Amino acid sequence: MKVVCIGAGYVGSVTGAAFAALGHHTTVIDIDTNKVNAINEGTSPIFEPGLEALIRKFSGRTLAATNQYEVVTDADVVFIGVGTPSKEDGSADLKYIELAARNIAEHLDRNRYTVIVNKSTVPVGTAEHVTALISQYSNLTNNEHFSVISNPEFLREGYAVEDVFLPDRIVIGTMDNQARSVMKELYSQLMDLQKPIEVLQEIGLAVQPKDELPVYFETDTRSAEMIKYASNAFLAVKISYINEVARLCEALQSNALDVAKGMGLDSRIGNKFLQVSSGWSGSCFPKDTAEFLAASRKHGRELNVVKAAVESNLEMHAYIVEKTKRKLGTLFGKRIGFLGLTFKPNTDDTRNTQASIIIQMMLGQGANIQVHDPQGMEMFRHINPNLPIAYCDQAEQVALNADAVILLTHWEEYVHLDWNEMGNMMNFKYVLDTRNFLSSHFIRDKGFHYEGLGVGIEYRELRTLSNVV
Ligand code: UDX
Repeated sequence: MKVVCIGAGYVGSVTGAAFAALGHHTTVIDIDTNKVNAINEGTSPIFEPGLEALIRKFSGRTLAATNQYEVVTDADVVFIGVGTPSKEDGSADLKYIELAARNIAEHLDRNRYTVIVNKSTVPVGTAEHVTALISQYSNLTNNEHFSVISNPEFLREGYAVEDVFLPDRIVIGTMDNQARSVMKELYSQLMDLQKPIEVLQEIGLAVQPKDELPVYFETDTRSAEMIKYASNAFLAVKISYINEVARLCEALQSNALDVAKGMGLDSRIGNKFLQVSSGWSGSCFPKDTAEFLAASRKHGRELNVVKAAVESNLEMHAYIVEKTKRKLGTLFGKRIGFLGLTFKPNTDDTRNTQASIIIQMMLGQGANIQVHDPQGMEMFRHINPNLPIAYCDQAEQVALNADAVILLTHWEEYVHLDWNEMGNMMNFKYVLDTRNFLSSHFIRDKGFHYEGLGVGIEYRELRTLSNVV
């Protein structure tokens, strides 16, 4: 098939590279010539594990990129994977989707059938909106030669290549039988594990083995659009919940890690997304919960649970500031080192990251801040150009004269830092590990005051005592 992906960001470039790897002639369209050139030169326009290897292998063969829309004329399937940033009121801004619709309309071939797929996360009703725009801009009297459908992405950053080849589910939203059969054919190779695993092995990406095939789920467009928002909001609620439980665990001297583990043993709850953290953030959850809430308010059905999860998440960010202050007495004049700026490891994405919120709160209380991230410093600096903080090339440098080191993102390399040397460099040896990621014994043995989240020192002391007794 001939596939076009509009947008060379996280969604479009991963989707495009994947369909190219599955043998479809795929063109990625983007207005940014740097991204277009990167793909055509066999490099990745973004940092995402496995993506560069995939693009290198298929660029110039089944994969190409361009900033022109002419390729739409020959396409069987056109994916729209452009950004949908938040407006002031939290609702999604559809200006890039609308621009893509207009460009598609101007290049559609009236003599062939084309499926246009909303892959970006878009509000319920957007497929109909895009249909209307395409009809309007192409001056057509009927819509028989195209169909706009919803096929939301469920890609986790950092694991997007694995997720695109080995998804849990493929959701197709359309009642149009012709579009359904085109999409079924397009996805047919993912409904057999052999080809995806072959591709992943060829590019040398180590993935969790999977025995189960994805569930291929067909529904109408509005339900498919809703599934995406309802899923992301549910995950956000789940994390906010365990984070609140973790705060209570500290007060009641329970161990949130054991509590999460015990809860997750109930198959109705499941053990995923119960990891305590300084809160959820990133390019999806904040934007998607904001749009979901804005839509619910607009229709007089405010989602109270989601609203509470958003508020609770902000409280979790603030809790990190409070906890550090409690330990140091004051933040005024203190030097705080941060390990990790991205919202999770294996990404360079620092959009909407909790690091910026926590750092700004601490700066507001008079702290001096020095930071490190293996991939995210460039984007963080670009997004927050006016923050008066020091960027450290070496992770260990965040400890220099510091009164606290706060681990925000659980990058694997942070386990292997020279913690002895860091301890020697610190003014006061306090480590706050917001992901409960480091070995508490290892760090304590080096003379640090170590604290995790939800696992208070008091608890551990009690347990040691009871073991002795
Ligand atoms: C998410 C969805 O998972 C994906 O399906 C969707 O398509 C895009 O949004 P992503 O934004 O890449 O993916 O991040 P995800 O892995 O879901 O994590 C979101 C945030 O929650 C991160 O900050 C992460 O560190 C945090 N998190 C996750 C926790 O704090 N605890 C957990 O148990 C899980």
